[in-house]
Amino acid sequence: MTTAKQSDKDRVVIFDTTLRDGEQCPGATMTFEEKLEVAELLDTMGVDIIEAGFPIASDGDFEAVREIARRTKNAVVCGLSRAAHKDIDRCAEAIKPARRGRIHTFLSTSPVHMKYKLQMEPDAVHDMVISQVTRARNHTDDVEWSSEDGTRTEFDFLCKCVESAIKAGATTINIPDTVGYSVPEEYFDLFKRVRENVPNSDKAVFSVHCHDDLGMAVANSMAGVRAGARQIECTINGIGERAGNAALEEVVMAMKVRNDKLPFWNNIDTTMLTRASKVVSAATSFPVQYNKAIVGRNAFAHESGIHQDGMLKNAQTYEIMLPETVGVKQTSLVMGKHSGRHAFIHKLEEMGYKLAQNQLEDAFVRFKALADRKKDIYDEDIEALVDQEIAQSHDKIHLVSMSVVAGTRGPQRATMKLDVEGKIMIAEEEGNGPVDAVFNCIKALVPHTAKLELYQVHAVTAGTDAQAEVSVRLSQDGRSVTSRASDPDTLVASAQAYLGALNKIVMKKQRDAGGDMPKAAAGH
Ligand code: KIV
Ligand code: ZN
Repeated sequence: MTTAKQSDKDRVVIFDTTLRDGEQCPGATMTFEEKLEVAELLDTMGVDIIEAGFPIASDGDFEAVREIARRTKNAVVCGLSRAAHKDIDRCAEAIKPARRGRIHTFLSTSPVHMKYKLQMEPDAVHDMVISQVTRARNHTDDVEWSSEDGTRTEFDFLCKCVESAIKAGATTINIPDTVGYSVPEEYFDLFKRVRENVPNSDKAVFSVHCHDDLGMAVANSMAGVRAGARQIECTINGIGERAGNAALEEVVMAMKVRNDKLPFWNNIDTTMLTRASKVVSAATSFPVQYNKAIVGRNAFAHESGIHQDGMLKNAQTYEIMLPETVGVKQTSLVMGKHSGRHAFIHKLEEMGYKLAQNQLEDAFVRFKALADRKKDIYDEDIEALVDQEIAQSHDKIHLVSMSVVAGTRGPQRATMKLDVEGKIMIAEEEGNGPVDAVFNCIKALVPHTAKLELYQVHAVTAGTDAQAEVSVRLSQDGRSVTSRASDPDTLVASAQAYLGALNKIVMKKQRDAGGDMPKAAAGH
């Protein structure tokens, strides 16, 4: 929360669309359980509106929106829908259990979208705006209308649609920069002119929704707010279609740190920003770029001698905000093999984790095993270990053990023991290298048709005993899932990451069809 004098007219509503625009981007699919975890965190950190999904898109999306609507305590829960009445009705059904629900319905208004995408004349589009908003208002008083591709829409037509949407009952008007084409001065002018030209503009809250194709999503969002918009649509880590959306942590911290130039406030508990970034990164398996503003691992790191010297004399020399403000801890409890359960639990609490008792016990066992193999345990190691524990707690397929023969004298061979829904199975396979041999074992034990789209390895911390973090992306039937795992042994991390992705596919299939697991091959 900003500390400057706060008046209602300067209050900016934070509308988070991590679970809709964010989840919609290639490879960021989250499981049902991951979506619930992210939604709970957003609600706790003070997000005003959670756009939980696009209910008509799939049964999975519908169920997730419905469950989030049921569980959310503070935020408004919003669902997205196109203009068709059946979309709107499905969305209304999904948000029904919410204490406060919103229908967000959109329609393209730019010449290029109307001509090629909708293949409709402007008059018909205008009629449809009235019809979609009216339909949504029959379900709820809280209706948002978006003019998709608003920044490339002809100005008079945009004003006409906005005026009609408000007349039909829209309480929020969003003018998105759908293709990330605008620049700040232009976006500022657009909001100023629309608000001045639309006679009933004072009856609705105006909203910004900016994509980052030219790297200007945050600057554009702030320009829109300076011109009178009072809702920002954004995502954690800036994930979203193509180059992503405006990052929540960036718009929130811009208003806090530069409140002299951006005198607006919001309700976000900024000390939760780092945790939120990590949870979303773990759920989507999208790594956060090291130099990412606010939440990147280098955002508060100083290596050059001159900077370190300045920092030692006074932190303000090279830091414009206190790391604690965004939830980065300065002091660190040193963890190692002598640390007990109590210290471990304390550490987890300090890092913002809340685990169930059984997850806590399993994480502690893993921590002890890691401490036996690795001298220094850093916060990043614990984070990787606990995130993996959380991710695996719903899995059907577990790695029991494996061994690999590698080296110059091939062929490389792997032996693997898996627990597949309680059944222990063993396979031994060769491969073109040790990783290939490991993945061949998994394919032999759990036959499947998913294709490996991405295999990426990096070290969690420095040093030759650092944990390897492996990301694997699998795709099947046009949808991809990603998973990350870490272990001091790169090959074990590779197997765990592959199994993590396979588990997501299996769970998704089971949820979609109420079907069985892919048949496991007969074990030896
Ligand atoms: O970018 C966009 O235009 C959208 C709309 C659906 C609001 O995401
Ligand atoms: Zn968007």
